Amino acid sequence: MAEYEYETHEYDVVVVGAGGAGLRATLGMAEQGLRTACVTKVFPTRSHTVAAQGGIAASLGNMGPDSWQWHMYDTVKGSDWLGDTDAMEYLAREAPKAVYELEHYGVPFSRTEEGKIYQRPFGGHTTEFGEGPPVQRTCAAADRTGHAILHTLYGQSLKEQAEFYVEYFAIDLLMSEDGQCQGVLAWKLDDGTMHVFAAKMVVLATGGYGRAYFSATSAHTCTGDGGGMIARAGLPLQDMEFVQFHPTGIYGSGCLITEGARGEGGYLTNSEGERFMERYAPTYKDLASRDVVSRCMTLEIRDGRGVGDQGDHIHLHLNHLPPETLAERLPGISESARIFAGVDLTKEPIPVLPTVHYNMGGIPTNYWGEVLDPTEDDPDRIAPGLMAVGEAGCASVHGANRLGSNSLIDLVVFGRAAAIKAGEVVDPATAIPTPPKAAIDKALDRFDGLRHAKGAVPTADLRLEMQKTMQADAAVFRTDKTLAEGMEKMYAVAGKLDDLSVTDRSMVWNSDLMETLELTNLMPNALATIVSAEARKESRGAHAHEDHPDRDDDEWRKHTLAWVNGKVDLGYRPVHLNPLLGHNEGGIDLKKIAPKARVY
Ligand code: FUM
Repeated sequence: MAEYEYETHEYDVVVVGAGGAGLRATLGMAEQGLRTACVTKVFPTRSHTVAAQGGIAASLGNMGPDSWQWHMYDTVKGSDWLGDTDAMEYLAREAPKAVYELEHYGVPFSRTEEGKIYQRPFGGHTTEFGEGPPVQRTCAAADRTGHAILHTLYGQSLKEQAEFYVEYFAIDLLMSEDGQCQGVLAWKLDDGTMHVFAAKMVVLATGGYGRAYFSATSAHTCTGDGGGMIARAGLPLQDMEFVQFHPTGIYGSGCLITEGARGEGGYLTNSEGERFMERYAPTYKDLASRDVVSRCMTLEIRDGRGVGDQGDHIHLHLNHLPPETLAERLPGISESARIFAGVDLTKEPIPVLPTVHYNMGGIPTNYWGEVLDPTEDDPDRIAPGLMAVGEAGCASVHGANRLGSNSLIDLVVFGRAAAIKAGEVVDPATAIPTPPKAAIDKALDRFDGLRHAKGAVPTADLRLEMQKTMQADAAVFRTDKTLAEGMEKMYAVAGKLDDLSVTDRSMVWNSDLMETLELTNLMPNALATIVSAEARKESRGAHAHEDHPDRDDDEWRKHTLAWVNGKVDLGYRPVHLNPLLGHNEGGIDLKKIAPKARVY
């Protein structure tokens, strides 16, 4: 058994991750007087939320008529009828409140002439239950909205005395024998010490796993650490087959060009200079939902109408917009286009390509952020002591496809909801549990095994093999053949985790070991994705299956569950169909959100 000394810390709540969801949860917990620690592998304001550009959706109605019911309808349709109705209603109803709270905390939103929060159009956001024109619902701080939110929430959390453990890497959850989460083991990167965080509630806010793919808008830190820990704790991941490709990653680097660019009037063209989205989505055109736009771009390229020497990308035009608008509303992407594409966007189009951007799937939760450990008899059974929020979680509010700017609102609405629920279920007067020694030893043994791994395969090589396999076989378009072959390849790739080679055995700033730990987190996420995708014989949202091109609500309107432990075991749980409010209480008319063809 591995011998390591460790320091023990005791808290009511430990939040792992300091992006938008982690910080909003941390702040909400601390505001209620819960002793709260936030453990994060990067400095909070460097979390991936900092890269969120275009904005945060809420039906404030500052630019024209809007309602939470319209926002809910758009979210249901965007999800391709896989989202949970209660969670989507909660998101749309609570969104305005959550945004005004952000404003009062100090987020420097852009303003209208009258001083109201500025809102821009975004794909899939409409009026009149999809019958009216696009709505301006996305609240923006220029094109640096995530940056503004993250800095504000961090400052507010410090004010509320939340304690931050910065550059601590969470290794594993510490589970009791009867399945209660009682803490987390972490490695302090800058001095090599080990830390047990004992807590009544652990909140996973570790973000997505975009780096399972070769080309992603996600930061290199997006390695699905929460999903990895959940899989090792014997709990399932949900709806992992749904991976979002953002239409406008810069060709080559994958760096994000916000959908806000099209919201402000930008448009896409093919090699014939045609605005092809008019053909595919006659009503909403370039502002159709992003899974739709990504597929249309891919079809144009496949049909020989891509731009560039190799005909393998598409042009995004902003050069017709007034330079003052670009400078005021889109300063960040003006800079990104110059640095990453060598383009002056006031004069030339930006070369773009659909790029992996977001994971709709994740750790299953209810709309309070409580993690689920479903059984056949009780598909909503709660795993005690454990919550998940943000991209790490799956509430499921985005279903099979997320609308742009519904991510930032998800972070703050559900980070806030988790804090409200923790205020009810975590009693500061009770004793903090002592995590079992066996669980700590098991986590230390895993760490030590990787630290001394003497196999033949360097971490970076195996990561690249995984990324290329996922990019090729779990792509925008999928077939029975690519998925079956991809699944076999991914099982072979994952098998090589037993043959890893780590060359640096030190404990301080050992990036070789940290990347290896991250790879052991990415791998179960990637495996769950491709195995879940192989099994789903329909097309829905981001899962575009060429051999099964139609949505099949009779057979497949259900959530996939994936337990990953070497192999992947699949199960399913029903979609929540009931709203929180009845129609006579002001809730949505269920007839409005009944499944139908999804056209834009
Ligand atoms: O395009 C964007 O600004 C991205 C927003 C989002 O993913 O919600």
